[in-house]
Amino acid sequence: MKVLLIGSGGREHALAVALNRDPELEELHVAPGNPGIAQIALCHAIDSDDNFQVVALAQELGVDLVVIGPEKPLVNGLADELRKADFAVFGPSALAAKLEGSKDFAKQVMHDAGVPTARSFTCTTKAEIIAALDAFGAPYVVKHDGLAAGKGVVVTDDRQLALDHAYLSPRVVIEEYLDGPEVSLFGISDGTTILAMQPAQDFKRALDGDLGPNTGGMGAYSPLPWAPADIVEQTWIQVLKPTIAEMKARDTPFIGLLYAGLALTKQGIRVIEFNARFGDPETQVLLPRLITPLATLLYQAATGSLKNSPDLAWSPDAAVTVVLAAEGYPSAPKVGDPITGVESVEGAEVFQAGTTLKDQVLHSSGGRVLAVTGVGSSLETARSKAYEAIAKIGLRGSYYRRDIALTASLSSKVREN
Ligand code: AMP
Ligand code: GLY
Repeated sequence: MKVLLIGSGGREHALAVALNRDPELEELHVAPGNPGIAQIALCHAIDSDDNFQVVALAQELGVDLVVIGPEKPLVNGLADELRKADFAVFGPSALAAKLEGSKDFAKQVMHDAGVPTARSFTCTTKAEIIAALDAFGAPYVVKHDGLAAGKGVVVTDDRQLALDHAYLSPRVVIEEYLDGPEVSLFGISDGTTILAMQPAQDFKRALDGDLGPNTGGMGAYSPLPWAPADIVEQTWIQVLKPTIAEMKARDTPFIGLLYAGLALTKQGIRVIEFNARFGDPETQVLLPRLITPLATLLYQAATGSLKNSPDLAWSPDAAVTVVLAAEGYPSAPKVGDPITGVESVEGAEVFQAGTTLKDQVLHSSGGRVLAVTGVGSSLETARSKAYEAIAKIGLRGSYYRRDIALTASLSSKVREN
């Protein structure tokens, strides 16, 4: 099988590694990719936000499958254009990607599908905003309707801050606050059938102890020893399956990765958000644990033939990933500095994200520079491997969280005793 993967981040690096493990894979092409991906696949320096260029590349290469990593090309209709040109595509149409692209749309789908989520109001006027904030009270949750690269959501006790954030967007979703640990649980869908993956947890705040600003994600781990034993089954029943059925009934089948961001509240599972693509950095811990060959699996999803495929197979091992962030991330990341030590990492996997080659030397080019994943028989072992490895990497001013998967690894140790 010849596969073209679209994207250039740590998620795509992890996807590329996992696709390469599939014995059915003959050629892996990535556009545009990054220096890490270029070591294991053929990279093509096109503008992947330009649908025309991507379709032309897929045609030139004659690929059997296109896998779309990031949300932007999905919302821009890349999957539609590729399907029009007769390619098998893993990634939802623009209409189906609205599950991520519009919070209001996602709420409507959940409502119609009977999927448990926070009660909410979609507001377009000041009066509606004030009424919605008063209806729910603090903590206030205000979400801009459209794609906002992680900057669209504010959760605050400060009413003025909530109001200010709401007024920035012509359309906002204001919802009740959900109390409980957050879990990311992904499903792989062919439009009719959806297979649930294992749960993961990511760490969104920049600093230890969940302090500091929100980020794209500073680390992740899987599995979750503390989560209810039936979390995968319950999420499949309550969330994934009805959402896929609803999308199909609307004639906009969801073919791709449905990312359910969940809060495990005292009242049960609640959906915080949907995304229409693999999560980053959760993918960097999930795919190293996935035994099922990935290229074949995504091809089955892209061609409507998941029904006959067996359940996903997982390694019992734990995985922990730690993100190395540039100085100043997330508000003003410093880029263009040399990165040392990546080649010397042993016993862990480095997934590159914000990197570039300058005179053959690896340099930082983004806020989240790379992620280091350790895999081991326990979360504790996986953590040690990830942290030992990341300590070997040098980048001036960079930082990483020291407490990724710490609480979970301690609680699972107590359980073993
Ligand atoms: P989102 O972009 O929807 O994932 O929201 C970003 C973050 O805001 C989530 O990961 C949660 O930590 C938080 N959040 C969003 N919605 C709620 C909610 N209804 N209750 C509590 N926290 C929320
Ligand atoms: N890990 C959060 C995201 O991918 O949106």
